[in-house]
Amino acid sequence: MKLLPPALGRLLAVAFAAFTFNATAADAPREHLSLDANWKFHMGDDWPGALHLDKAGASTGPAGEKFGDQAWRSIDLPHDWAIELPFDKTADTSHGFKPVGPGFLKNSIGWYRRTFDLPAEDSGKRIWLTFDGVFRDATVWVNGWLVERHEGGYYPFRMDITDIAHFGGKNTVSVRVDATKFEGWFYEGAGIYRHVWLDKTAPVAIAPDGIFVYSKFKNNIPKGKAEINVEAHVLNSSTNAAEATVTCEILSPDGKPVAKDSESEKVKSAAARTLKLDADVAKPVLWSPESPKLYKLITTVSVAGKVVDRKETEFGIRTVAFDANKGFLLNGEPYVLKGTCNHQDMAGVGAALPDGLQYFRIAKLKEFGDNALRTSHNPPTTELLEACDHLGMIVMDESRLLGSDAQNMQKWDDQIRRDRNHASVGLWSVANEEFSVQATPQGGNVARTMQSYVKQLDPTRPVTYAAPQGDTFEGINGVIEVRGWNYHVGKNASQYGKEIDSYRAKHPNQPEVGTEQGSTVSTRGIYENDKQRGYVSAYDDNAPSWANTAEEWWSIFAARPWLSGGFVWTGFDYRGEPTPYAWPCVNSHFGIIDTCGFPKDIFYYYQAWWTTNTVLHLLPHWNWPGKEGQEVRVDAFSNCEEVELFLNGVSLGKQSMKPNSKLSWQVKYAPGTLSAKGYKGGKLVAEQKVETTGDAVALQLMPDRTTINANGEDVSLFTVSATDAQGRQVPVAQNMVHFEVSGAGKILGVGNGDPSCHEPDTFIPDLPVRTVAVNDWRWKLAPVPTGRNASAPEYAPDFDDSTWNTIKPKTDGDTGDMFLQEGESAIYRAHIKMTEEDLKSPGIQIRFAGIDDRGLIYVNNVRVGESRDWQASPVYDIKRNLHAGDNVVAVGVRNESGQGGLNPDVNVEITGEPVATPWSRSLFNGLAQVIVQSSKDAGEIKLTASGDGLKSVTGTVQTVPGGMRPSVP
Ligand code: GAL
Repeated sequence: MKLLPPALGRLLAVAFAAFTFNATAADAPREHLSLDANWKFHMGDDWPGALHLDKAGASTGPAGEKFGDQAWRSIDLPHDWAIELPFDKTADTSHGFKPVGPGFLKNSIGWYRRTFDLPAEDSGKRIWLTFDGVFRDATVWVNGWLVERHEGGYYPFRMDITDIAHFGGKNTVSVRVDATKFEGWFYEGAGIYRHVWLDKTAPVAIAPDGIFVYSKFKNNIPKGKAEINVEAHVLNSSTNAAEATVTCEILSPDGKPVAKDSESEKVKSAAARTLKLDADVAKPVLWSPESPKLYKLITTVSVAGKVVDRKETEFGIRTVAFDANKGFLLNGEPYVLKGTCNHQDMAGVGAALPDGLQYFRIAKLKEFGDNALRTSHNPPTTELLEACDHLGMIVMDESRLLGSDAQNMQKWDDQIRRDRNHASVGLWSVANEEFSVQATPQGGNVARTMQSYVKQLDPTRPVTYAAPQGDTFEGINGVIEVRGWNYHVGKNASQYGKEIDSYRAKHPNQPEVGTEQGSTVSTRGIYENDKQRGYVSAYDDNAPSWANTAEEWWSIFAARPWLSGGFVWTGFDYRGEPTPYAWPCVNSHFGIIDTCGFPKDIFYYYQAWWTTNTVLHLLPHWNWPGKEGQEVRVDAFSNCEEVELFLNGVSLGKQSMKPNSKLSWQVKYAPGTLSAKGYKGGKLVAEQKVETTGDAVALQLMPDRTTINANGEDVSLFTVSATDAQGRQVPVAQNMVHFEVSGAGKILGVGNGDPSCHEPDTFIPDLPVRTVAVNDWRWKLAPVPTGRNASAPEYAPDFDDSTWNTIKPKTDGDTGDMFLQEGESAIYRAHIKMTEEDLKSPGIQIRFAGIDDRGLIYVNNVRVGESRDWQASPVYDIKRNLHAGDNVVAVGVRNESGQGGLNPDVNVEITGEPVATPWSRSLFNGLAQVIVQSSKDAGEIKLTASGDGLKSVTGTVQTVPGGMRPSVP
């Protein structure tokens, strides 16, 4: 709520400027801490009964505080366990044949645990726990309390854990991640694949995602001053009302203070208020992909003259709009969207990208002139948007699902509030291809509701829908602000643009955009289709039946400015959807670049027509032994007006280039040098050559960055290639390469862009487990005392059970003779022998095949767990309960219905120390990639590559202090 009319607000701002305002981060108690490092991870649904909904704080197994997770794998987030699984031909094609999801229960549930201390001085602060994205459904416990059940894999979720935090003590976060269901039809990963944060604030503070900053110009034309509007949502969780003063200060892209405003309002106890502020920036520097200049808003909250919160928010000053005739307008001028759609996964890491890879990917896309990115088909991670803000990329920010139900609207709300400060976000998308409802009145109603909601939360940005429809106005297309076009360009010259033009003639006042266009399917370095191996030629020849080649779609869109340009399906190859093939092919071929970021030939088509660089690129490579004298098709992607091709110095003719097209020659193959000269206005402006190389003799390593931050997160990407005796890269090399890393970092993942490669992307340490059967059970019918601290003399190690029943040794298919009838209860006892050596192992657990119906499990008279699900195979951590020598396990079982009892198939699992697995990857058409990640020690990362018969090579990356995020120790 605005307290003062704008003019008075500005007066106050001027008055306020008389004070020296210099609050620094150190003055305010807000701490935004990374909680990514030092998690423990276990894959498997071993504790299905951990969630208890009967009593608060009573969850068991890893959900509880006491659980020993020492034997679990140590990992840092972000983490995607799907990438670690081997490919499986029986798994889902569209998800890239990883055995996770429906039908693969064993691999689809994962547990994460992390402990951290909160100092006693934090008592009185609010403590927030935020997950940026978990695939998929997450159940979160803190200190044994259930704090969140979040459905879905792409939205952030956040908990205020203040009430249950241990100040001055240890806190435990447990997360059960359930990826048994899919959401999309593409690779989605599994696990906590985005960041986790712990935020500490004063009781009066800016709410999470509680800042909204946007700029306004008169008539939305960026001339003259910009009015900067700030909405600050302030929470008061203290027991008294507070007079909160919110101050905003704006720093220019070069760090100079340029505007300031301040407002005060009383915020009641346990309530929240939104304060509205505004300030003018006289001569704003406008943000654009070509000049991504960012301003900074510093918002402080003061109570009784003391700064209690301070938050920095980057933003850009710019306008976005659509005009039905001129198309997309950036800063008031027509701006052609030369965009790509992208999923979020990458070679080596799956869905779990460290921030450095977001920057790498955006920079790669920009190399071919890409200025826009669609986050298909889900809200992105924040760091992707930050990369787009900083490097310059307009984002079409898409929701996962169409829906105006309360849950979906809450998610839409979360997405918009989180993303609306980003300069890069230029357009919201309510959904993609909602086939069954899009042409119905209900589809239209829901889209209208979602669109109207955007207008409430964000008055600055247009809204679209990625429609897979042609000339159809019914349903969503009829209500949406900007008509989106997924495909429908037409498959031959007589159809090109027909549907689009017909729609335009009928709805001339509705702006339009190509939400999903293209898409050429191609494999890097392959020049003929090969269904068996799952490869598609890299000429711009092949597109699925519903889609078009690069030249086809771009020629149509480039000629129709009102279409605003569009987004190619896709920028990067991604896992899953191996169109046009299936197994052995495991990833898509749609990319302009492959899964590693290596350009395919089509990259240069776009670079030629989407940038102002002079481009001249020839394809294919010129290593065709055995094809001497046969015709090989040579294409040129170029923006030169004329191109002349030569083979070994002899001209094969000069051809003229039509805009947005390409050139082609048939050339009788002879080894040597294929070369081309490009001319503009008759002047030679470019030369290009492709040489026949010799065999590979040596390996080469080239890092994309030679210096990175020693912060445990930063990455450098080594390109691995093979060279011939003359040092030329061999484009057909397929050698297996082995890697060793030493020094200040580790290997995070490897890849080669081969869509049919089934080699691992990651080599996780092996965790050896020794299994010891627990035999010789004795039992007798006996009452089983219940209750939290219940005990019985029969649980004690020295109890004499010599007169009890014994259990017949187990035979295959026979679970013994110790069945209980309905209503009966019994106690079972057995011995576990442990050596001193056994007890040194990182973890020891006991696994039961089944306890029917309820069981209380004791080791040496200490209760280690309880089982309430007769179908479960419960596992309990017992290391801390064991000693060297003889130990007694006792289980009290109550059978409630049917036949029941203890299944005597019980084992103790002794986990050994992790054993490192060596890394390797084969070259695919000459290239592979190794992603290395820094440790927190400054120094050098040394990567050595070796391969059979090839000279090995060592590459280095320096890691220097810097970029360390504040984090939870
Ligand atoms: C589109 C869809 C994309 C992808 C693509 C493959 O219809 O929106 O997600 O599946 O087809 O061509």
